[in-house]
Amino acid sequence: MSKSETAKRVKIKVELSVPSHPDWVQVILDNFDEFLQDHANCERKAVAQAMGLAMRYPERRELIPHLIRLAKEELEHFEEVYELMQARDLPLVKEIKDPYVNGLLEHCRSGHDDRFLDRMLISSIIEARGAERFGIVAEALSDPELKAFYHRLWAAEMKHGHLFANQMLHYFSEDVIRTRLQELLDLEGELIQRLEWRPSLH
Ligand SMILES: [Fe+2]
Ligand SMILES: [Fe+2]
Repeated sequence: MSKSETAKRVKIKVELSVPSHPDWVQVILDNFDEFLQDHANCERKAVAQAMGLAMRYPERRELIPHLIRLAKEELEHFEEVYELMQARDLPLVKEIKDPYVNGLLEHCRSGHDDRFLDRMLISSIIEARGAERFGIVAEALSDPELKAFYHRLWAAEMKHGHLFANQMLHYFSEDVIRTRLQELLDLEGELIQRLEWRPSLH
């Protein structure tokens, strides 16, 4: 079986090694405006990141259509969060530092293929954590419109979480992907427990 056939048949599930702390969401509920500003920043960065990958890896042809679709979807999310912000007269902020993403990227190995795999698996993990937390926020919110919005985002980011890891089946063996994914998931679990809580997605 060729690697492209394998990519269609095997599903690699990206399952977080530790759940978010149950009290984390209170920080979000208490500072919801700041959370929206951070959320908008994350969606804006997700668009740029998808396009950045399409620029960095033009030879990974199977991936490009997915990256284009992803960038469009993340752009829609950005638009939707920005509309919520406009309704509250909240401005976008320039850049919000993200020790979570930076901490994960530190684990990227060097070497063309290793780096590619790590970047893509880390992208999957970031999406999976984002999905988990949007789900928690949706559960905790009482406003029905906001609740529905975050529920929809939970579903979208869940899909993104599996996308990158499964696309790697075009380029790497399932064993190589699973082993590295587990290592990175364990590192992410340690990181997420260490980080200070802010009114942010991560
Ligand atoms: Fe998104
Ligand atoms: Fe996403």
